[in-house]
Amino acid sequence: MIEFRNVVKVYNKNNRALEGLNLKIPDGQFLFVVGASGSGKSTMLKILTKEEDCTTGKIYVNGVNLNNIPKRKIPYYRRSLGIVFQDFRLIEKMTVYDNVAFAMHVIGAHPREIESRVDYVLNLVDLRRKSRSKVCELSGGEKQRVGLARALVNNPGIIIADEPTGNIDPEMSYDIVNLLSNINKCGTTIIMVTHDISLVKMFNYRVVELSNGVLRNDTDNLTHTEEVV
Ligand SMILES: Nc1ncnc2c1ncn2[C@@H]1O[C@H](COP(=O)(O)OP(=O)(O)OP(=O)(O)O)[C@@H](O)[C@H]1O
Ligand SMILES: [Mg+2]
Repeated sequence: MIEFRNVVKVYNKNNRALEGLNLKIPDGQFLFVVGASGSGKSTMLKILTKEEDCTTGKIYVNGVNLNNIPKRKIPYYRRSLGIVFQDFRLIEKMTVYDNVAFAMHVIGAHPREIESRVDYVLNLVDLRRKSRSKVCELSGGEKQRVGLARALVNNPGIIIADEPTGNIDPEMSYDIVNLLSNINKCGTTIIMVTHDISLVKMFNYRVVELSNGVLRNDTDNLTHTEEVV
C-alpha cells in the first residue's frame, strides 16, 4: 500500500505544487494520474521516489514512512521501484543495451542473467534491433522505451512512470500501456502520469486528477453525476 497523508510541497518558499494530497494506492493497483501542466503530477511522483522531500505531511510505502529513510539508504529504497522519468535520464553515450544492463549490474545480478533479461525486456519494448545503438542516436520515442525497459528489468514491485508515452505515436502508446497492464496483472503496482485522456479511456483503471496541487477527481470515489475523463 502507498499512502499520501496530507502531503504539501512548496518549492522556493512560495511555489505551492501540492496542497495537502491524500491518496491511498492499494498493492497491485493500476493508477492513471492526469491533470493540466503544472498541476503537480511529477512532484507527486518525485516525492514518492525520494527525489524531492515533501514540505509537510507523510508518505508511507508498505508501512515505511519515507520521511524516515536516511539519505544513504535512498538508493536501496529506489531498488524496489521501477522509475520512468519524464526527461528519460539515460546515459546518452552508452548503448541501449548497456543503459538497461547497468540497472541490473548495480544490484549485483549475474552476467548471464543480465544478458538474457536485458534481451527479454528490449524485446518487450520492441527495441532489440537497436540494442547496440548509442542512446544519442535514438528518437525521443525510442529513448522513452529504453527508459521503460530499464524500469522493468529488475522486476520491481512498483512501477512509477511519468509520461511514458509522451513522445510515442498512438498505436505504440496503446501497446506500452497494454504491456504495463500485463505486468500489472502479475501483481505489480503501476502509477502512470499521462496527458493522453483518449489513451486512459481505452483502459478501465482508476484515474485521479490533480488540479493546482489538489486531488480534484478520483474514479474510485465517484458520485453518480461525476465523470473524470
Ligand atoms: N524544481 C522545481 N523548482 C521550483 N518549482 C518547481 C520545481 N519543479 C516543479 N516546480 C513547480 O511546481 C508546480 C508543479 O510542477 P510539476 O512538474 O509537478 O507539474 P506537472 O503536473 O508534472 O506538469 P507537466 O504536465 O508539465 O509535466 C509547477 O508550478 C512548477 O513550476
Ligand atoms: Mg510533469
